[in-house]
Amino acid sequence: MTTPETGFLHASPGIPGEASHADLVARLANEIYGRGHGPSAPVTPASAQAPGVSREAGVGSRSFGTPPVGVPGITHTPPLDTATIPSVHPLADPPALRPLPEFFVPSLSEAAAGLPGGPDLHRRIAGDHPRATAFALPSVHPQGAGPATEPARHDGGRPSSRPVRTVEYPGDYYFLTSETSRTAPGPAASHRLDEHRLDAHRGSRAGGTPTHVHAPASAPPAAAFDVETVRKDFPALHQTINGHPLVWLDNAATTHKPRSVIDATSEFYGRHNSNIHRAAHTLAARSTDLFEGARETVRRFLNAPSKDDIVFLRGTTEAINLVANSYGRANIGPGDEIIVSQIEHHANIVPWQLLTQATGATLRVIPVNDRGEIIFERFAALLSGRTRIVSVTHVANALGTINPVAEIIALSHAYGVPVLVDAAQSSPHIPLDVQALDADFLVFSGHKVFGPTGIGALYGKTHLLAAMPPWQGGGHMIEDVTFAKTVYKGAPEKFEAGTPDIAGAVGLGAALDYLEGVGLPGIAAYEHDLLEYAQAGLAEVRGVRLIGTARRKASVMSFTVAGHDNEAVAKHLDARGIAVRSGHHCALPALRRFGVDQSVRASLAFYNTREDVDVFLKGLHALARR
Ligand code: ALA
Repeated sequence: MTTPETGFLHASPGIPGEASHADLVARLANEIYGRGHGPSAPVTPASAQAPGVSREAGVGSRSFGTPPVGVPGITHTPPLDTATIPSVHPLADPPALRPLPEFFVPSLSEAAAGLPGGPDLHRRIAGDHPRATAFALPSVHPQGAGPATEPARHDGGRPSSRPVRTVEYPGDYYFLTSETSRTAPGPAASHRLDEHRLDAHRGSRAGGTPTHVHAPASAPPAAAFDVETVRKDFPALHQTINGHPLVWLDNAATTHKPRSVIDATSEFYGRHNSNIHRAAHTLAARSTDLFEGARETVRRFLNAPSKDDIVFLRGTTEAINLVANSYGRANIGPGDEIIVSQIEHHANIVPWQLLTQATGATLRVIPVNDRGEIIFERFAALLSGRTRIVSVTHVANALGTINPVAEIIALSHAYGVPVLVDAAQSSPHIPLDVQALDADFLVFSGHKVFGPTGIGALYGKTHLLAAMPPWQGGGHMIEDVTFAKTVYKGAPEKFEAGTPDIAGAVGLGAALDYLEGVGLPGIAAYEHDLLEYAQAGLAEVRGVRLIGTARRKASVMSFTVAGHDNEAVAKHLDARGIAVRSGHHCALPALRRFGVDQSVRASLAFYNTREDVDVFLKGLHALARR
C-alpha cells in the first residue's frame, strides 16, 4: 500500500516574537491530519522560498517531510507534546476525517488569482504541489472592501467548482491547500492539508503589521466620533446618583437607551399596538410591518443573506438554548463532542451541559492562557471527527477578551463542524458580518446594543434553520393543526411560537439604526482609546489586580482591590455615583481560571468619556488609600 504524501508548507511573515494562530493551526493540522497515516514520503520543495517566509516540515513523530536544509528562514517545529496538556485527550485512533468541505476550488491558480500577489503565490506553491486544490479563509472582517464572490460554505458534498472567495481584505487571511494523493488508500488518508498564511495588509503579502479588523485599533481614527453629541441622546446618563453625576460603567450588563429607542417603543404602544400577522385591520398591518421591518434591520446589521435567517427571541440565552435543543438534539448523540471555551458566559455553558446530560455527548473546553486568551493550539487539538458543534463567545463578558472567531470558524469548518458565535458582548463594540465570518449561528441581545430588554436574535444559516425541528410549540408557528398532526411554517416563524415582543423588536430595530448612524468602526476606535486610557490608570491604583489582559480586548476591566471585598468596592463607587458590577458576572469558570470567583467589573460603552474614567479612578484611589 502506498501512503500519501503528508507534508505541509507554511508561509508566514508572522508576528515577531509571537506564534500566530496560523502557526498553531498549521502545526496542529499537520499533527492531526498526519497521525495514523503511516510513514510519509518526504516533500521536497521545488523552489526557494520568498524572503520572510518560513517553511516547516517534518513535524510530529510521523515525519511529514525532510526539511530543506540551508534555505533561509527554515524553522523546525517540535512535535506537539499532548502529555503536557492535561485536558487534551490524545486520539487513540486515527481521526475519522470527514470529507473536507465543499469550499474547495478545483485549482490553486483560481484560488490564488483573487489574492494580492496571487500569481507569484501560485507559482511558488504550485511548484511544490502541482495537484493542490485550495480554499481561502479570510480571518478578518471586510472593511468596506472584499469583493467576495460566492461565500464559502461547508454544507458537505463534493468539491465544487465554485470560485473561492477572493479576498481583498486588509489584515490577515489564511490560504489553505489540500490535495488528494493519487495513491491514497482511502478517504481518511487522502487529504493533505497545507497552510499558507499571508499578511495582506494594505495589499502586501509580506511585511506590514498584521492587522485584525476586530481589534479596535484598526478602525478609523477616534476623531470621527463625537462623544459629547452622542451623550445628549441618552437621557438616563444625565441624572445624579447619591448626589453625584451618574457614571455608568456597567455596560457589559446592560446599556442605556437613546431617545430614538425610547420613542420607538413608546410610539408602538401609544399608536400602533396590535398583535401581528393575524388580522386584516390597519393596526395589525402597521404592527406587522414594524416587526418585520425590525427583522430586516437585524439582517442588515449582521449582513445576513436573508431576513428569514433571523429569529427573534428573548435574547442570547434563549437563542443558545434554541440551538442546543433544536439543532443539538437532532444532530448530537452519545460519544459526540461539543466544544466551548473556558471564558464563556454561563448561557453558553449550561444549555450545552443540559444537552450532554440528555444525549450522552461530552463537553470539551478550550483553555485560556494567563492573559485570558484561548490557546488556539489546544482548540485545534480538541477538534476531531467526534466534534459536532463549537460554541464560543466573540467577546468574553468577564474578561473582555476578543476571541479569534474567524480563525475558530475556519478551522472548525475544515472538519465540517458548525460554529455558534455568542455576540452578546461584541455586538455593541465590533462590526459583525455573518457572511464574512461564515458563522453558522450567531446570537445577540437587544439590551446590550442600546435596545430594550427581553428581545434578541438568532442568525442561522438558511439550510441549518430549514433542517432544524421546532423547539417550542404554539400559535404563530404553524401552517395547519389537526389532532393527528401539525404542519409547521418555515423559518423563522417555526421558532417563534406565541406572541413575540413586538415593541421590543421595534425598539431593537431603532437601536441598530442608531448604532449604524453613529458608526461601529468609529465606536470601536474610540472605545479602544478609552480602554487603554482606563487600563493605564487602573494599573496605577494601589492593590488593583486586572483580571484579563488579552492583547485583543473590548470594553471590560475586571479587577480586584487587595484588602477590599468586591461588593464593598462597588458600593464605595456607587456612593460616588459610579455604577460598576461586582460578583461572578455569570462566568464562574472564567474567573476561577484566575483563582477568584468574583471581581469588580467596569465596562465601557461609546457614551463614556475620559472624565468618567477619571472619576472612577479617583474613587478607586480614595478607597485604596484607606
Ligand atoms: N450577561 C450580563 C453580564 O455579563 C448580565 O453582566
